[in-house]
Amino acid sequence: MRDLTKANVTDAVLDKIADNTEPRVKEIIEALVRHAHDFIREVNLTPDELLHGARFIQAVGQISDDKREEGVLLGDVLGLSALCEILGDTVRAGATESSLLGPFYRDGAPDRQMEFDISLGDAAGDPAFVSGRVIDTQGDPLEGVVLDVWQVAPNAFYEAQVGQPDEYADYAYRGKFTTGADGRYWFRTRKPVNYPVPTDGPVGTILRGTGRHSWRPAHLHYLIYKNGYQTIQTELFNSDSEYLDSDAVFGVKESLIIPYTLNEDAEAATTHGFDGPFYEGVYDFVMKDDASAADAAAQYSQRASMSAD
Ligand code: BEZ
Ligand code: FE
Repeated sequence: MRDLTKANVTDAVLDKIADNTEPRVKEIIEALVRHAHDFIREVNLTPDELLHGARFIQAVGQISDDKREEGVLLGDVLGLSALCEILGDTVRAGATESSLLGPFYRDGAPDRQMEFDISLGDAAGDPAFVSGRVIDTQGDPLEGVVLDVWQVAPNAFYEAQVGQPDEYADYAYRGKFTTGADGRYWFRTRKPVNYPVPTDGPVGTILRGTGRHSWRPAHLHYLIYKNGYQTIQTELFNSDSEYLDSDAVFGVKESLIIPYTLNEDAEAATTHGFDGPFYEGVYDFVMKDDASAADAAAQYSQRASMSAD
């Protein structure tokens, strides 16, 4: 029996992984072991520091529930989610770029008619009209595309967020819209605002402990799907946000930044049911066809409700 050394302990662990392990699992676990061991050697991690890390992970689990995914948030603030999305964008080249899902997506948002006010009549914040088209990579409009949208309320909380100080109705600031033959979508809302990611859990200790702020630039989230096309998971960012260059979770891409222009035309306001000037945001989404996305709705729903099993 050989003593384990700083150098050979890694191979001792790798040797334990059965050869018939599912290939992708094998690839991931082996790389995880190699990189984790290299990390410990690089920083000369002490047993107390390792224990501290284990308890940190425990705390991440303990604060999580069906309304709060601290593990997702941890990956977000460390840039892991952003990196995975960037890697995936090569597969999606030609389509609208992706961005983060975030921890506040809720499956099951109600279907709405175009023009619907997803704020459900909220009087706070600035009125906004959001519109555009969904087209394919040839520029032709796509019919029957579902746009599942969600955003923060003007009080800087999501409707279902833990600690939400106001009484928003279920699924306020959320809704699903389905395009007609012209590929167009349009809906009413309040202009998205900047908001901080939650810092009352273990992830907050990382941000505070490393001198980072917790703000995200104002944005609207979209999950866009249609059978036979790659699902788009993205966010559109307000061009006037002061946090575009310092998003706490690294989600901003140049192509996803849009201006909200003030429309002061009284007739347009009446047409859209506003009682005065309103902001307009316009964006066209490009979807790429993908034969493997035969049941896009089921695929996206499974992803959104993903558990660790
Ligand atoms: C969000 O945009 O909803 C979000 C994304 C990552 C972390 C926290 C919030
Ligand atoms: Fe968000």
